[in-house]
Amino acid sequence: QPVRLVDYRVPDFLIDEVDLDVSLDRTATRVVSTLIIRPNPAASDGAALTLDGDELTLVSAHLDGAPLDPEAFQATPAQFVLPNPPRGRFTLTIETRLDPASNTKLMGLYRSGSAYCTQCEAEGFRRITYFLDRPDVLSTYRVRIEADREEAPVLLGNGNLEGKGEAETAGRHWALWTDPHKKPCYLFALVAGDLAHISDAFVTASGRKVDLAIFTEHGREERARYAMEALKRAMAWDEKAYGREYDLDVFNIVAVSDFNMGAMENKGLNVFNDKYVLASQETATDDDYANIEGVIAHEYFHNWTGNRITCRDWFQLCLKEGLTVFRDQEFSADMRSRPVKRISEVRGLRAAQFPEDAGPLAHNVRPEVYSEISNFYTATVYQKGAEVVRMLKRLVGDEAFRAGMDAYFHRYDGQAATVEQFVGCFAEVSGRDLDRFMRWYRQAGTPKVTVRTAHDPAARTYRLEIAQSLAPTPGQPTKLPATMPLALGLVDPEGGDLPLVSADASEAELASGVFVLDDAERVIVFRDVARRPALSFLRGFSAPVTVDDDLTEQDLAVLSRHDPDHFNRWQALQSLVTRVLLRGVKAIRAGRAPERNAALVAAFGALIDDARAGRIDPAFAALSLALPTEADIAREIGENVDPDAIYAARKSLRGALGRKHGDALADLHDWLADARPFSPDAESAGRRALRNIALALYADGNIIDGLARAHRQLRDADNMTERFGALTQIVLKPSSAREHTSDAFSRRYAMEPLILDKWFALQAHIPERETLDRVRGLMSHRAFSMSNPNRVRALIGGFTGNHTQFNRPDGEGYAFLEEIVVGLDPTNPQVAARLLTAMRSWRSLEEIRRGHAEAMLRRIAVLPSLSPDVRDIVTRSLG
Ligand code: ARG
Ligand code: ZN
Repeated sequence: QPVRLVDYRVPDFLIDEVDLDVSLDRTATRVVSTLIIRPNPAASDGAALTLDGDELTLVSAHLDGAPLDPEAFQATPAQFVLPNPPRGRFTLTIETRLDPASNTKLMGLYRSGSAYCTQCEAEGFRRITYFLDRPDVLSTYRVRIEADREEAPVLLGNGNLEGKGEAETAGRHWALWTDPHKKPCYLFALVAGDLAHISDAFVTASGRKVDLAIFTEHGREERARYAMEALKRAMAWDEKAYGREYDLDVFNIVAVSDFNMGAMENKGLNVFNDKYVLASQETATDDDYANIEGVIAHEYFHNWTGNRITCRDWFQLCLKEGLTVFRDQEFSADMRSRPVKRISEVRGLRAAQFPEDAGPLAHNVRPEVYSEISNFYTATVYQKGAEVVRMLKRLVGDEAFRAGMDAYFHRYDGQAATVEQFVGCFAEVSGRDLDRFMRWYRQAGTPKVTVRTAHDPAARTYRLEIAQSLAPTPGQPTKLPATMPLALGLVDPEGGDLPLVSADASEAELASGVFVLDDAERVIVFRDVARRPALSFLRGFSAPVTVDDDLTEQDLAVLSRHDPDHFNRWQALQSLVTRVLLRGVKAIRAGRAPERNAALVAAFGALIDDARAGRIDPAFAALSLALPTEADIAREIGENVDPDAIYAARKSLRGALGRKHGDALADLHDWLADARPFSPDAESAGRRALRNIALALYADGNIIDGLARAHRQLRDADNMTERFGALTQIVLKPSSAREHTSDAFSRRYAMEPLILDKWFALQAHIPERETLDRVRGLMSHRAFSMSNPNRVRALIGGFTGNHTQFNRPDGEGYAFLEEIVVGLDPTNPQVAARLLTAMRSWRSLEEIRRGHAEAMLRRIAVLPSLSPDVRDIVTRSLG
């Protein structure tokens, strides 16, 4: 029974106040919920009161203090119904009993390690108590938490701590938390356990002192220092960039090791997957540090975009997620290198979101129907949602964007809003018609922008013909053009941008270089163009589209050296490499050897020289030297994909580049050895990233010496980035030392699950036929557990990212995933469903693999007792 956006109705009842009394026990937790309810004046009256539940056990129910007659209500594990509720305001008291120890779904109240914690978004609160579990029901909360003092000396809730004391039962204590801000129940949280913490403080712009704390397992708390610094930076940034201050006296973060997603923005009590909190020089890579900074900021920024203004219904999820991702991306760009950050974002978008848009799971940024909302926490809602906000900012300009955000905060504070209301603020402040822009929210699929160029030397004109199109997606056979900003420049072959002169564009467009495509087509003729320039199109990736252009390889070579736009400088080289690789794949499939491309070899040589001479940012150089991934090439090919041919073409090119530039790469690798004390800052991280890619490329072309270098780097490194970069080469390449070195690494970090996750994922990535057996074997490793989502994502999720081995031509990779998904579904359907999305591109494979993939999906589809989560993914995947 799918839920549809068009069926939205306001709730029949409102719950003004929630009073929870939670008495924690591992297997028999008692929850007494007292709700102050009234009919919604905006709804028609006379309706029954139907509260949501999920696997609940009712103990008792009282109405206005008196026990409810059993005839007067119905309670099942999934619902509590009062057919004839009072007409005015009333108090409903419901007691439920929970067994957190056997809650393996990690939704609702569960145990992580020795602690109690909760996850309520999207629909987990109904696993704690009967409620109107929908985001447009906003209430104030008063929560009393009681627990055994020894088992749980720390008791945390949302809002401010009101009091604490000894409980009546010996050995037990309580804490009372009140949250003055109205919130939907998905933002409820509690945590209780024996936890360590670090603390700090932040003074807001208006002088409110906020006590900050991060709670972790004992012995790990010092590893939360970087997260704490990131939190303070985020708090200061939101004040400066958006004028948003924090609004409570305390802000607590808890790191737990069993968590289905990344983190959760519960009001005043963020709960995190510990991998996005814990870091040290010894244990974390630079990517870990960057992720921590980004996720800490993301959850903090939700306090305004998500919590103060929440979503009317779950169809509006991108209203808080896309916007908050955009905000955290901007924050990271300000903290680090903006172009490098942009390149990483686009790589991520293309890797995770483009395939979603191109396959059977394609859906709108703002979906219109769902059967299981957990399956819509997707790259489309999050990452493409952020791209849409970024386009909005480009279209209206920085000033109007800030004014629109101010209007949004002012107008909808304390409310549950919609995407239309959000975009309406920008239409109003900018005076722009954003109706066609709204199509970004209402149409699935990645638009293709075609651009054709013509230079007329006699007339000194340069003509651009631009067109957009969008292929059908499931349920959307026809599409309409959407408003998009196209940033572009004309790069003179000698370097530098030509001034933009044209009668076909507005002054503002010519001045900013951002041209608005509102219709299916647009022609722009530029004047005073004596020499044919190289077109630098879609600068900064100004719209989430694919581009079909007529640039020559010579143009790409020029752009890769001279484009003033760093994103496009990177893109030009990637495009050049992609063209060469696509021809390589064709050659290999036709039984020929892939070409040797001198221009490409030269471009890489120039890049390595520039990096060695310090002429370019090391982090930028590292991204430029990284070849498109196998999945990137597969996406470009689009249909009848043969992963083995892609692997072979890529390997051959890497080998050639590594051999040709062996000396320069070795020199670069030596030069980048850093004698300074470790620092996780972006500049140092960039040098390490470049050092690792130099090593990888060198080893691809010079295997024996490369492995010797890797062993030295592994031995000498004083940080996890370089250590793991070295281990990666040693594990991915066959050698007699591989197993020994790999085992030694895993023994060294036997007590560090987050490091072992990297190690599990690395093993799962080995591009060899034995890898599937290796992965099966690792499932019995003492550190592996199917009940921990991080372990499962590392090993099993890692394997699904192994392009050749997951897509084995004998279908064994898919059969393995089937076994895992079916086995995991009864205990953790969310994680099972997420793993199964690895099948999202199955239709683009060549026929044999496609056959195996379809058979696998069909075998799952006929199973009688699937969770709604897996059922939904398998059904949509088969289309
Ligand atoms: N709102 C969280 C975030 O993006 C994600 C929570 C999703 N949880 C879930 N079980 N679907 O910050
Ligand atoms: Zn979020």
